[in-house]
Amino acid sequence: MKCDHPDEPAGCGAACNQARRTALKLCAGAVIGLVATAKDNAYANDAASSRPQAGDRLVLADGESGANAPLELTSIAVGDKPVPAYPFDPATGTLRDGSRLNRVLLVRLDPTGLDERTRARSADGVVAYSSVCTHQGCDITEYNPDENVLFCFCHFSKFQPSHGGEVVGGPAPRNLPMLPLRLEGGQLVVADTFTSRPGATM
Ligand code: FES
Repeated sequence: MKCDHPDEPAGCGAACNQARRTALKLCAGAVIGLVATAKDNAYANDAASSRPQAGDRLVLADGESGANAPLELTSIAVGDKPVPAYPFDPATGTLRDGSRLNRVLLVRLDPTGLDERTRARSADGVVAYSSVCTHQGCDITEYNPDENVLFCFCHFSKFQPSHGGEVVGGPAPRNLPMLPLRLEGGQLVVADTFTSRPGATM
């Protein structure tokens, strides 16, 4: 059984092999993938699953925000750990958490260290990148300030947030998609759509 859902992280194939070895009839990873596929198909047009749009605010992911309070510039300091967030449409009150491909990591960097293109897409040094690795779709959770890289534990791909999410190590075949930001009344606001398709590279 082949696990091929683009949202699923690496290790799905290994899960399938384990399932074969234990003579199970179902591959848990495949089931998860199929469920995820069905969910994506069913809700492809839902506002909660549609990709971030200009004007969206950003709120803490993982239920940490409670009341979907928009994140502000002052919410994040240089040197903080990456902040996971989902887009939030203030006009409809829709949290776009219906797809993990909408999840982003926020990092605040010194604006003088950003290349010109990245600086234009940042909000006073705050940059937003897809949290889904472009290799096989694992969640990216960590930022190493010494190397200035976001990195993926699955196969150790590294992405440089100060330079458009450029791949600087590991097997990832393409840059990490960036979500352009701007400031409005001190709040972090989505300025445009992702610079490229978020998710694993098939
Ligand atoms: S999934 Fe392979 S490096 Fe991230």
